[in-house]
Amino acid sequence: MRFKQTETPLLAAMQHYIQDGVIPFHTPGHKQGKGMHSTLEKLIGKDALALDLALIEELDDFYEPYGCIKDAQDLAAQLYGADHSFFVINGTTGGIYAMILATAGPGEKIIIPRNAHRSIISGIILSGAIPIFMQPEVDNELGMAVGVAPETVEATVIEHPDAKAVLVINPTYYGVATDLKKIVEIIHKHEMVVLVDEAHGPHLRFSSRLPIQAIDAGADICAQSSHKIIGALTQSSLVHCREGRIRVPHLKAMLQLTQSSSPNYIMLASLDVARMQMAVEGSKLIEQAIDLANWTRQEINKIPRLYCFGAEKIGNPGVFDMDPTKITVTVKGLGLTGAEAEKILRHEYKVQAELSDLYNVLFLITLGDGQYEVDMLVAALADMAAKYAGAYDFSVFESCVNTCHPIAPQGILSPRDALFGNTCMVPFEQSAGMVCAEIVTFYPPGIPVLCPGEGITQEIIDYCQLLKQGGMHISGPEDCTLKTIKVVDEYGENILSNR
Ligand SMILES: Cc1ncc(COP(=O)(O)O)c(C=O)c1O
Repeated sequence: MRFKQTETPLLAAMQHYIQDGVIPFHTPGHKQGKGMHSTLEKLIGKDALALDLALIEELDDFYEPYGCIKDAQDLAAQLYGADHSFFVINGTTGGIYAMILATAGPGEKIIIPRNAHRSIISGIILSGAIPIFMQPEVDNELGMAVGVAPETVEATVIEHPDAKAVLVINPTYYGVATDLKKIVEIIHKHEMVVLVDEAHGPHLRFSSRLPIQAIDAGADICAQSSHKIIGALTQSSLVHCREGRIRVPHLKAMLQLTQSSSPNYIMLASLDVARMQMAVEGSKLIEQAIDLANWTRQEINKIPRLYCFGAEKIGNPGVFDMDPTKITVTVKGLGLTGAEAEKILRHEYKVQAELSDLYNVLFLITLGDGQYEVDMLVAALADMAAKYAGAYDFSVFESCVNTCHPIAPQGILSPRDALFGNTCMVPFEQSAGMVCAEIVTFYPPGIPVLCPGEGITQEIIDYCQLLKQGGMHISGPEDCTLKTIKVVDEYGENILSNR
């Protein structure tokens, strides 16, 4: 290794270029801020704008790195224990596209969890692969999907021995991790590639109190949102891989396919510096965040009618481990929906959550938080809990989530063919026997009931009507009342002008 973990070779090269006083006859057009409108120039600041550089010889080549970008990526690989790491400038979304494109081509099978993030479905649409879905376990008390059990993975790979890859989430948005090591062993035993959506896991390597990270569990490729949890700028992510089961030049080619030829150097530098920060003080910072989050969880659980799940869930189906820095507050005891609680917290207490669903509000505790922030959060939650006693009776939702189970529909077309086929809107009640051309998801539990390319059955229509009557929130379809649904129009009549 040419550089030490305490160094930032990419940032150093950028600073050297600026300090050299070069006159830039290259992009970006604002020329270090001089051509930018003063409103924006003042806001961003001259120093930052000078760092908005371009691909010139001494700043390396983003697609085929040989200099400072390669040095920075090599340091990331060393820190994360990967054979190779790559900087990604369109988030983990871009990383997921590349890893799917690199492993499952048109008509080839890829096994994924049914509660996959939309970037995974989009990656499959881009590649033309055929998704084989695995059902995650559901925690009815929390009203959410958790991890996919190793037994489910094993049964699916046995049923589909021709699948090219299996994609696993580690951990979920809410911090729940499945038994990744066991799952990797099962998948590799069946000669398939393991891909991991580790958007919420760029900090896992820095504490033994966190779930194992994908590369350490033996995964072949993973993508991490360095911007979500550690100190990189928004949209800056890392892809790590292990040699052996994948062709690294092919993965590189797919990363080129999915990324801009004009990378933002400030974002790239933020990945270089975030890596250095984690190498130098990552363990200390992450341990502090865990302590802070554990204290916060304890205090929230003292507030009547609120619940913040923790280690007591470990051992339940699909819950092998958890990331305690994710604070999920279940507010249904107040008779408020998560969305209502999120709005109250934002507008009455100036506290903004990461997201909410029907039962829960999620707060992220990271290396950017301190005692003041968590004190304010706990005080706001306590005040809200004392002040609000909403009118919702959650037993209607609960009986629905607990009693109805999604029925796995049959895949008729690839999501790509369904999306690019002729489509039309039909009354949902009359859609049995047709091929769905969009995603339909109910919250809770957030698992798609229908995906593009899947056959609609009367059973599915009845199930959806039940969830609708139960007042579940519908997400995904163009008509979010689900009175009508977009289907593949095999006769080419009533074609929607959607392309
Ligand atoms: C589970 C999961 N995977 C992938 C992504 C996409 O990550 P990014 O926003 O970095 O593109 C997200 C984003 O929220 C996510 O929650």
